Amino acid sequence: MKFLITAGPTREYLDPVRFISNPATGTLGYFVAKKAKQRGHSVTVITGPCSFSEIRGVKKIQVESALEMKDAVEKEFLSCDVLVMTAAVSDWRPEKRYREKLKMKRPWKLKLIPNPDILKSVEKIKKGNQVVVGFALESTSIIENARKKLNEKKLDMLVANTVENFGDSSRNNEIFVLYPDGKIKDCSGYSKRKLASFLVLEIERHNKLKRRK
Ligand code: CTP
Repeated sequence: MKFLITAGPTREYLDPVRFISNPATGTLGYFVAKKAKQRGHSVTVITGPCSFSEIRGVKKIQVESALEMKDAVEKEFLSCDVLVMTAAVSDWRPEKRYREKLKMKRPWKLKLIPNPDILKSVEKIKKGNQVVVGFALESTSIIENARKKLNEKKLDMLVANTVENFGDSSRNNEIFVLYPDGKIKDCSGYSKRKLASFLVLEIERHNKLKRRK
């Protein structure tokens, strides 16, 4: 299969040297890419700025902002079988990106506008045999909120995480994989490497089922 994986954070610049972002490390995306490659799949990774190490034979596309990631995903998605959207895409960006470095010695207000939801835009061009896996980072009512995202974004699988698992945390407390038929797999306590392996094997299984239909 052809895997397309997004990883890392995005950066949303307000002037040439300042941006808003988040502490995503890209580690889970890295392990998914590595496992998929090991299993003999073709793999492309679209990554935001993080220390995503090169993996032999894996194509890496470097982006910075959510808009750049959206463009790259839409382009690559047309020819892939699987999209695994591990990236922590910034939900907002500054309304204005100043060309010059800002010199502000007094308080000022920064206006943020929403970024497009990449998974939602992909849903519109998705073909029946493509598998799309999303993630949800929740601080309360994990399963309920994740189920809503799974349905709204019409995903084939959704991995629900708690905020404690975010960034370079090695704790992987509560992790659940949700499916559209209502099934839930409890992966709590899995390391990122183990979760990545589980996901790749699940995606293979899902793809087989889709092809049989
Ligand atoms: N995502 C996306 N485009 C965005 C934001 C997020 O495609 N602009 C993807 C992420 O890669 C992830 C999933 O959507 O796979 C869920 O991300 P999350 O931040 O948990 O949820 P949101 O849908 O942004 O909802 P909220 O932040 O309101 O909980």
